[in-house]
Parts: sequence; structure tokens; C-alpha cells
Amino acid sequence: MALDKMRIVGGNRLQGEILTSGSKNAALPLLAMTLLTRDPCELTAVPDLLDIQNMIKILRILGVDLTFLNHTVNAQTIKLNQVEAPYDFVRKMRASVLLLGPLLAKCGFARVSMPGGCAIGVRPINLHLKAFEALGAEIELKEGYVEAKASRLKGAEHTFESVTVTGTINALMAASLAVGESVFHNCAQEPEVFLTGEVLSKMGATVDGAGTKTIRIRGRNELKGFRADMIPDRIEAGTYLVASAITEGELFLRGANAEHLGAVIQKLRDCGAEIVEDVSGIFVKGKKLILPLEIQTAPFPGFPTDMQAQFMVLLSLARGRSLVHETIFENRFMHVAELIRMGADLKIKGPEVTIEGVQKLKGAPVMATDLRASASLVLAGLVSEGVTEVSRIYHLDRGYERMETKLASVGADIVRIMNQPEVEK
Ligand code: EPU
Repeated sequence: MALDKMRIVGGNRLQGEILTSGSKNAALPLLAMTLLTRDPCELTAVPDLLDIQNMIKILRILGVDLTFLNHTVNAQTIKLNQVEAPYDFVRKMRASVLLLGPLLAKCGFARVSMPGGCAIGVRPINLHLKAFEALGAEIELKEGYVEAKASRLKGAEHTFESVTVTGTINALMAASLAVGESVFHNCAQEPEVFLTGEVLSKMGATVDGAGTKTIRIRGRNELKGFRADMIPDRIEAGTYLVASAITEGELFLRGANAEHLGAVIQKLRDCGAEIVEDVSGIFVKGKKLILPLEIQTAPFPGFPTDMQAQFMVLLSLARGRSLVHETIFENRFMHVAELIRMGADLKIKGPEVTIEGVQKLKGAPVMATDLRASASLVLAGLVSEGVTEVSRIYHLDRGYERMETKLASVGADIVRIMNQPEVEK
């Protein structure tokens, strides 16, 4: 694993235009969906990221004939070699659990390693499994693997106990080949779920309500191939909106969809940033005075947990006291201790962090163990006095395409230092 670092000299105002990449969290389920049909499928605007490469590797092992060139995936599944997603892959990428629904529905059997806990929480998959059971699957947990089987899934009515994004998507994928109609209640309403519904419709399933709390889906005996263009990555765009807001920058996020970022844009405006929404993207101008805020993370259309760490950097520089309440993941404050080392004044109490704004942050060597926490440290580096070195940036590479190139193109002093040996602390 590359142990590259990101070296940032803070203080530059960001100015210019950044092109938003396709969404990682939309592309991952769409890649899994190629298993649902024997026809060719084409996905465009797929971001070239570590998580995507990992998903592609697993699909190839399973037997999918797949190419990935210039952000375009062409995939066809004529015959699978195996229906098992091994531990080694699932360990690296939790989203491999998205293979369960399609494999179960298409092959009648799937064996996927149980994902363990990860840096941001325990993250069980019980809600995925309950939805499969509602559709008639038998689930067994054996030697750390989930085994799911059903000769043919049957449409059913099911209510998710709590909102789950990939759980909703997995259930929809499974129901797309079930006999009859399924109705799912308390569904996730994220744009990624909406896109899933749209693509399953293209494949021949009848889907109604994707993007709302209740989704109806009528399965088919066979599904057709599809072509789909990825939606823009709302979290990547949101991260760069914050980069502009903290550096008194003027950035245009080309391709970003303001409809997917309503809660984030509202909070940025509340902080004093100027935002102009346009059909071709979002413009943001940061102001010297940053106002304090209260933020509570929530499922879409609420404020995304995936933007919580980045906002903590912004609020660290606000005039006054802010409060951040994390309601989705129980352990998503990995960035807090590192931001404190950079001079932020943060106090954790259970799921809440109180932030007293400081005049400035100071560069330091830092690292984080999850994707969005790592992104927040890069943001902190952009606005800190002196040099910040963010290590373990393979986390960033999982979710941000060429982050250093994009930021450098709008004036940031940031470089990737290749392959630094890591010294145990
Ligand atoms: N949960 C359960 N049981 C389940 C599923 C979820 O208890 O079976 C809990 C989770 O532990 C969490 C909450 O429900 O406390 C919500 O989790 P959800 O299932 O919605 O998360 P996810 O589908 O595993 C996706 C994104 C995450 C993003 C969350 C929340 C993908 C591949 N991942 O995860 O993205 O944080 O939704 O919006 O779509 C990221 O991109 O950095 C990232 C972590």
C-alpha cells in the first residue's frame, strides 16, 4: 500500500474552477448492478478511485467481463465463476456488501464476508439481511461469512427499522428480480438511491418512488443491460465548497448539483459564504468573517454525515461557539484529536463536539484513519500557518480523484510526496 503523504503550505486563496467528478457512492451500486443482467452495461463518468478499482477487481474475480477506460466502464456478465466475495476484499471496502443483493437475486445464492467494524463505527448489515429475509431469503452466518439463499425471491412489504443507504439499494437490487411487487418503507432518500431506481427502471423493473420514503418495485424474470451516466459527487463538491469558504476563495464547482447539496449550501450561507447556484455548477465566495453554527447530521435531505468533518474545520475558524451533533455514526470524530493538534479548540462529549472559534490554525504532521476525516485535515492544511503533512492518504485516494491536482489548479500549495516509509508511533 502506498504510504504517500500530502504536503500543504497553507495560506493561499483558492480561485478558479474545479470539475466535479462522478459520484463514488453512486458508481459502486451501479457496478454491482451489472451482475443482474447478461446484457452489456455501460457506465460513464465513473471516478477513478481506489474503492472503484477494488469493486472492479471483485467483479472480475466473480466472472464479469469488464473494462475501465477514460472513466467509462463496459461490463458484461455471461457466466459467473463464483458467488463469493472473500474477506480480503470486503475488509478493504465495506461497499462489497452491495454484491449480496444482486448475487442472491440472480444466482439464488451468495456468500459475502461480513464486513467488520471500521474507523467510523460498528456498521452492522442487519438491516440489509432483514430486507432479504422479507423477500424470502434464508440467511446464515458461517465462519465470518453471510450466506444468503433463495430459489426465487418473492415480492414483499418491508419497513426498514432505521434509514440505511446501501441497505435500501441492496433491497431494491434484490427485489428487481423477485416475483411480484415489493413495497419498502422508511427508505433512504439519497440521490444515489434515486439513481439506483432510475437504472433499475431502465433495466426493465417497474420502480416508483425512489428518492422518497416509500418505494414500490415490481421485479422481472430477466433484466436488460443499461447505460448510465454517474451523478456528480456531492461530497467531493461539498468538500471543495468548504475549501473556498475557509480560504476566502472564489471557486466554481463545475458540474456540481445544488439540488443534492441543499443542506450544505444552507449551512455555508448561514456561515456567511456567498453561494450562487447555477445549472452548470455552484459558485462560492468565502468571507473573512465566518459565523458560528449548530449542525446536526441526518439522512438526506438533512446535513450529510460525510460533510461533518470538513465543516468542523470551517467552524474552528468561526467567530464564536459552534456545535456539531453526529447522529449517523457513533465514532466519526477521528479528525478531532488531529485538528486540536493544529490549534483548533474542540471538545467531544458523546455524539457532540463544541467548537470555540480560533483566530488561526497551525500546520502540523497529521493523519487520519477514514476518508472524510483525512479530507478535513487537508482542508485544515490549506488554511493553516506553515506546513501540514497529511499521512495515510490512501484513505483520500479511496474517495477523492486527484485531489492534489484539483486543489493545486486553483492556487493551493499542495504536493503528493510519494511512498514515505511510515514510522510506528
Ligand atoms: N446501520 C445498521 N445496520 C445496517 C445498516 C446500517 O445499524 O444494516 C446503521 C449504520 O451503522 C449507521 C446508520 O445505520 O449508523 C446509517 O448507515 P447506512 O447504512 O446509511 O450507511 P452505508 O450505506 O453503509 C453510505 C455511504 C457512506 C455514508 C453513509 C451515510 C456508500 C458506499 N457509503 O454508507 O459513505 O457515510 O451512507 O450517508 O454509499 C463515505 O463515502 O465516506 C461514506 C462513509
